[in-house]
Amino acid sequence: MAFFGKNKKSNILTDADLPVHIGIIMDGNGRWAKKRGLPRSAGHSAGAKTFRTITRYCSDIGIKYLTVYAFSTENWKRPENEVNSLMDLFKSYLEEALADFKDDSIVVKFIGDKSRFSDDLRKLMIENEESSKNRDGMVLNIAMNYGSRDEIVRAVKNISIDVKSGKVSVDDINEKLVSSYLYTSGQPDPDLIIRPSGEHRISNFLLWQSAYTEFVIMNKLWPDFNTSDLNEAINIFSGRNRRYGGI
Ligand code: IPE
Ligand code: IPE
Ligand code: MG
Repeated sequence: MAFFGKNKKSNILTDADLPVHIGIIMDGNGRWAKKRGLPRSAGHSAGAKTFRTITRYCSDIGIKYLTVYAFSTENWKRPENEVNSLMDLFKSYLEEALADFKDDSIVVKFIGDKSRFSDDLRKLMIENEESSKNRDGMVLNIAMNYGSRDEIVRAVKNISIDVKSGKVSVDDINEKLVSSYLYTSGQPDPDLIIRPSGEHRISNFLLWQSAYTEFVIMNKLWPDFNTSDLNEAINIFSGRNRRYGGI
């Protein structure tokens, strides 16, 4: 794709250089707001706008899977007013913005434990999944009340239940089977994970799935992150030499 710029051979990135699956840890909203003397909730609203722009852009350039980390299992420990403002923001988003993705034929999935959300929010999440499931565009996984350790514990429990009932035998347990019990079942592992805001950590995101993922840390705070930053991350990714333990 011409607008991505340099490739070793031709100066042009082809579709083959594009990551199939991108993960983004949407971080830095609070610091963005603090720098401007605004409440943290203003940072989350600004971050939601970036989410919309970047999602649409990923779909436009032909990314097949995008997983965004919106709220972790650990984020409940934040002050009540911040958690409440995030829940309000999620609700207004599910009501309005996700309807927008219809035109881009985006398939919306929520990964994480939905049971902790309010009934209205959970209903909106399920409605969005149901109404988009037959579309044929990019799969957008929104990680909400998601923690990868929690996901793995859930998988272990469900495998145990299936072993107990005889549906699965212990000999059938392999990496492929474990993957199929995760929220991302049936999807390819992420090729690229981007973390804006300069933090060098994974914060409980896609631990199993990121065994061979390329990480790109960027210094911009999420509300300031734009399509050029995404292009830059993809360019960095396309220059990496992935060896998967080989030579
Ligand atoms: C990410 O931004 C959004 C959520 C975790 C919900 P933060 O709120 O973590 O922003 P910083 O890291 O405090 O700047
Ligand atoms: C990770 O960011 C979770 C999301 C972006 C939703 P955090 O801000 O919660 O992570 P830490 O606390 O810096 O590790
Ligand atoms: Mg943060």
